[in-house]
Amino acid sequence: MSDVELRVVDVSDDAALRAWWEVGAAVTAHDRPYDAWPAWEVGRASMRAARSDLDRTRLLAVQDGEVVGHGLVVWWLLDNPRLAELEVRVLPGHRRRGVGRTLLAELERRAAAEGRTTYVATTHAPVEAESPGSLFAAAHGYPVASAEASKLLDLATAAERWPALEDDVAAHLGGYRVAAIEDHVPTEWAADFCGLLSSFMTMVPSGDLDLEAAAWTPARLAEHEERTAAAGRAWLVAVGVAPDGRLAGFTELGVTRADPRLAIVGGTLVLPEHRGHRLGLGLKLATHRRLLELFPACPVVVTTNAGVNAPMNAVNEALGYRVVERCLDVQKRT
Ligand SMILES: CC(C)(COP(=O)(O)OP(=O)(O)OC[C@H]1O[C@@H](n2cnc3c(N)ncnc32)[C@H](O)[C@@H]1OP(=O)(O)O)[C@@H](O)C(=O)NCCC(=O)NCCS
Repeated sequence: MSDVELRVVDVSDDAALRAWWEVGAAVTAHDRPYDAWPAWEVGRASMRAARSDLDRTRLLAVQDGEVVGHGLVVWWLLDNPRLAELEVRVLPGHRRRGVGRTLLAELERRAAAEGRTTYVATTHAPVEAESPGSLFAAAHGYPVASAEASKLLDLATAAERWPALEDDVAAHLGGYRVAAIEDHVPTEWAADFCGLLSSFMTMVPSGDLDLEAAAWTPARLAEHEERTAAAGRAWLVAVGVAPDGRLAGFTELGVTRADPRLAIVGGTLVLPEHRGHRLGLGLKLATHRRLLELFPACPVVVTTNAGVNAPMNAVNEALGYRVVERCLDVQKRT
């Protein structure tokens, strides 16, 4: 067995992008309890997308002429100047030979060269057990900074519960209302929506993760909307509107139009001063209903939240989500 060679992926090189994508597809199929890897066309579009809010480098690990693993380092440009996000995956048949360690060392070197001092990665494990990823992280000085549960909702049966929940929401909303939006936040709400997105990371329980508020502006939001559309993703959003017309909360989910195998819940937030009106449940019901209307073939939705986030867990439980794995954000501070 020869040494591992690391190659930087040029995003204009389709073969290299495809090789990077294939490692993720194989590792996900092997290690995860559900189909969590994007289709090739979607993955390619997102890997190619120009971003003004972050920069990133992808690596391929090659051994004896064969791609055996991949890596990614992402650094944010508009906020979180200390932080780098890392991804490492090694094909199941090539593990415990130091490929992961070699990739991680190079990703850390590149993150440090960008002036980054906190490195975070996400790995998954069964509910009651460790996984290769959690053991690898622990062995490399990445303790768990935030442990969350990943939950799935089966859409074929979920809607049976919704009428009773919608009645409950209607009885508690008072002067608040829920509005569903698709793909584009109306201009009159853009500033408020950016405020919600900016507060999201600091208001959602995130354990010991070294995160600061993200800096969302209408220009960044517009870029996000364009990028989502270009990637063929539908973005289903619900906002809570307070009696004075200002936004009180939001929830979002994304699904690929051409390949709606899995819808993914992004952020959900109700601002503290607007809690207690069943907005969290009302917002989620609105996006899930819209999902079923627009994508009746979509079988499942996934969401992830912290065990300590009691209100969000109660909402998800009411909706019928079931826990399928642990999602561990691991972190190393240098
Ligand atoms: C995690 C992963 C990248 C490790 O790749 P790898 O090439 O097998 O890792 P290495 O051979 O470099 O392992 C380095 C050390 O990590 C630890 N380690 C890795 N896998 C382990 C396992 N299954 N059990 C126990 N320790 C493990 C060991 O200390 C190992 O050193 P050793 O083999 O000398 O004992 C690979 O298992 C994988 O792709 N998992 C799924 C994706 C994932 O979770 N990635 C995120 C990681 S933060």
